[in-house]
Amino acid sequence: MKLLVVLAAFVAFCAGSPAHLVPGDNSHYVEGESRYIWMPDGTGVPHLVDLLEKPSDEDITRISRNGANNEYWLYTRQNPDNYQLLVHGDVNSIANSNYVANRPLKVIVHGWNSNGHSTINPMITAAFLNVQDCNVIVVDWNRLANSLYWTAVIGVPGVGAHLGNFLVWLINTAGGNWNNVHLVGFSLGAHVVGNAGRAAGNRPARITGLDPAGPNWGGNSNALRSTDAQYVECIHTDGGLLGIFDPIGATNFYPNGGRNPQPGCWISTCSHSRAYELFASSIHNNHFVGRLCTDLQEARNVGCTGGVALNMGNSIISKRGGGLYGLTTNRSWPF
Ligand SMILES: *[C@@H]1O[C@H](CO)[C@@H](O)[C@H](O)[C@H]1NC(C)=O
Repeated sequence: MKLLVVLAAFVAFCAGSPAHLVPGDNSHYVEGESRYIWMPDGTGVPHLVDLLEKPSDEDITRISRNGANNEYWLYTRQNPDNYQLLVHGDVNSIANSNYVANRPLKVIVHGWNSNGHSTINPMITAAFLNVQDCNVIVVDWNRLANSLYWTAVIGVPGVGAHLGNFLVWLINTAGGNWNNVHLVGFSLGAHVVGNAGRAAGNRPARITGLDPAGPNWGGNSNALRSTDAQYVECIHTDGGLLGIFDPIGATNFYPNGGRNPQPGCWISTCSHSRAYELFASSIHNNHFVGRLCTDLQEARNVGCTGGVALNMGNSIISKRGGGLYGLTTNRSWPF
């Protein structure tokens, strides 16, 4: 009997959704049509997400205030492993920290089902501190990020606005220079940093969007835009599945066609996470040379051979540019 119930549930699941049953495999997914998609959590473990599951009205009220739950964790070469908590409005939290106003400022924002300790944060923090004496602020927005996917999507503008307002306060209070500010966001975090840039009057020097989240973001006016900072770059690695394929940055890199499977990956969740691994490696090595593409189709087909070259990623704050770029990478670190 018990087996029958399980079997019935299984059959209902298969009939009710086109979702593939191999965790992390999104080969069934059709943008704008499919209801289910696998998404990785902060350690890369796939979870099946129902894209139609909407938050309740009560949740939406709670979400609108949720950016107030952001935490800002400062890492520097003086404290590379243990963060110091910076609190919006609390001058002493800055004065008693290792924040130094004339250093470059890097901000890292994680994606869905993650937190400030998720892999992306120590990986990119270590890379920045390896090459530059800088302030790195990891944004932890775990309470909203660990809600239903739709809830997290609706919360993104508020989380971003709070981050932007915090940065304005930080720089006005403790000093700093917008031309030294680099915001980095992965997946939903890419849309968070876009909203942060807008709240800060588009003043940050650079935004790097690491495979900006795709589901529910096509044509969404709250998505990352090419004007949210002085220079906005996107690195697309799982376009059309977990990532958005559209060139929403000023410069858009499409390593290995910008889609699943990335070299060494079998599944979409792996290809999605590859975006922050490539970026971390680019900070250490600055070895990824993109070639200009004539159009998106050429980028998709790994056919870009244009004479204009631009390096993908890196930590150079004065970096500028525009257009579509393609390149190939290897299957394992440093790729
Ligand atoms: C990939 O590996 C090959 C062989 O080791 C190397 O020549 C090439 O430069 C690597 N590609 C990148 C993008 O570093």
